[in-house]
Amino acid sequence: MTRTPRIVGIGGTARAGSSTERLVAAVLAACARAGADTELFGGPALAALPHFAPEAPERTDAQRALVEAVRTCDGVVIGSPGYHGGVSGLVKNAIDLLEDLRADTRVYFDGRPVGLIVSAAGWQATGVTLSALRGIAHAMRGWPTPIGIGVNTVEQRPFGADGALAAPDIAAAVDAQAGQIMRFARAMAG
Ligand SMILES: Cc1cc2nc3c(=O)[nH]c(=O)nc-3n(C[C@H](O)[C@H](O)[C@H](O)COP(=O)(O)O)c2cc1C
Repeated sequence: MTRTPRIVGIGGTARAGSSTERLVAAVLAACARAGADTELFGGPALAALPHFAPEAPERTDAQRALVEAVRTCDGVVIGSPGYHGGVSGLVKNAIDLLEDLRADTRVYFDGRPVGLIVSAAGWQATGVTLSALRGIAHAMRGWPTPIGIGVNTVEQRPFGADGALAAPDIAAAVDAQAGQIMRFARAMAG
């Protein structure tokens, strides 16, 4: 691959200091250290998206920006909180908008690695939601990386007071997932 890989992150909550968004940003940062250009659609960007309605063709600038970023990227990172045992509405709304990629030559996430991340207050929602995200990535023809990241924010306390990733085991998982995204993106583009 001669050009710089582009990796797009989607994920977060509207909450200031969202752990989900920080985890997605951490994987993007690790991809950037490995040579990628990255773009993050975090909580505020996702909150700016209107409710997706398949029968309505109008798009806002914010919707077009997300669709275009995924259309042209080489890899994706998706992070969701576990809300009531599943993917949050905010994140799912952004994913549903990617229906706009249905008629592309590269449909949805076709041919691209998809790193998946869940942040929840308990292990049950962490596991179930990660499994749901894998199902979504498969349905959209993406290639979920073998390493998915599930963080229990109550038991693990992943971030220090400065907001930086402080748990070595989570940092290792972040680096491992980013490595898999970059290897796959370069292999597919090559
Ligand atoms: C509406 C709502 C529903 C939630 N449901 C669950 C749940 O079913 N299981 C769980 O473990 N945590 C649940 N949580 C806790 C969040 O998943 C957890 O605090 C997560 O780390 C929040 O992510 P954030 O830091 O990105 O905002 C819920 C939180 C909210 C606000």
